[in-house]
Amino acid sequence: MFEVKSVTKDFGTVKAVNNLSFQSKQPEVIGIIGRSGAGKSTFLRIMNRMTTATDGKLLVDDKDVLALKGKAKLEWQRQCAMIFQQFNLVPRLDVLTNVILGQLNKQSVLRSSLMFFTREERHEALRLLDRFGVSHTALQRAETLSGGQQQRVAICRAMMQKPRYILADEPIASLDPLNARLVMEALQSISREENITVVCNLHTLDTARTYCDRVIGMQAGEKVFDDVSSRLSDQVAREIYGAEAEEAFESAITSTSLKSQVVRKPALAEQAVV
Ligand SMILES: Nc1ncnc2c1ncn2[C@@H]1O[C@H](COP(=O)(O)OP(=O)(O)O)[C@@H](O)[C@H]1O
Ligand SMILES: [Mg+2]
Repeated sequence: MFEVKSVTKDFGTVKAVNNLSFQSKQPEVIGIIGRSGAGKSTFLRIMNRMTTATDGKLLVDDKDVLALKGKAKLEWQRQCAMIFQQFNLVPRLDVLTNVILGQLNKQSVLRSSLMFFTREERHEALRLLDRFGVSHTALQRAETLSGGQQQRVAICRAMMQKPRYILADEPIASLDPLNARLVMEALQSISREENITVVCNLHTLDTARTYCDRVIGMQAGEKVFDDVSSRLSDQVAREIYGAEAEEAFESAITSTSLKSQVVRKPALAEQAVV
């Protein structure tokens, strides 16, 4: 599916990512863990071409996507949707519009600036909102939603792009444990049901173990662990996290205590389809 080959990124004398290599051969949820400054965000930004690598390749279908330019680069960016810690929705626009804007690359600038969307686009956006339990917010401004709801809307926006990959940079770092669980379940179900590989930077160990098929540990830009998540022992985790280990373990206790809570799934907001 893709192969990262000796990817390196220098910021002056700092090697943010240092000779990173790994392959993903089937749809999976990959968690990237490591203390702050390990290079997790830089790697995701390189992957979706928001940052240029100093060296290395990312092979997809035998092509180096790090070398793509112009339209081909935009097409790659459509194929790997990004999800951020701070959701990055347009606060004053309604939820439905935010989701439809996910396919912006495919639309003419004029059409998107006039907010002219087809009935099919609205239906698809609403179907996604319903799937992730937030269709009742379709007509609300994005800024009126809770963080957990906004992140699920951001996932819908990403899915509207019809991506092959989803890259999520600390998607639950600003969320309470219950919403964190809903967001991780959404990402996991997308991977399972749509055969999409999700690469997800995470700060807490428990989340990585619960929702990821595979975990890559990074330290000072280098890969120090790469295995199925069940092999991530406490001792290995302590080594990866170093001084931040207690924090990573502690968050695990809070999030497991909320696992039994249930959330009602609201009905489809049909009135949003006009
Ligand atoms: N734009 C930048 N300019 C200079 N240094 C940067 C920049 N972005 C990241 N870095 C440095 O690269 C290293 C990796 O950062 P980052 O990828 O954000 O780590 P993580 O996401 O694991 O916390 C850090 O030392 C950070 O200070
Ligand atoms: Mg980061």
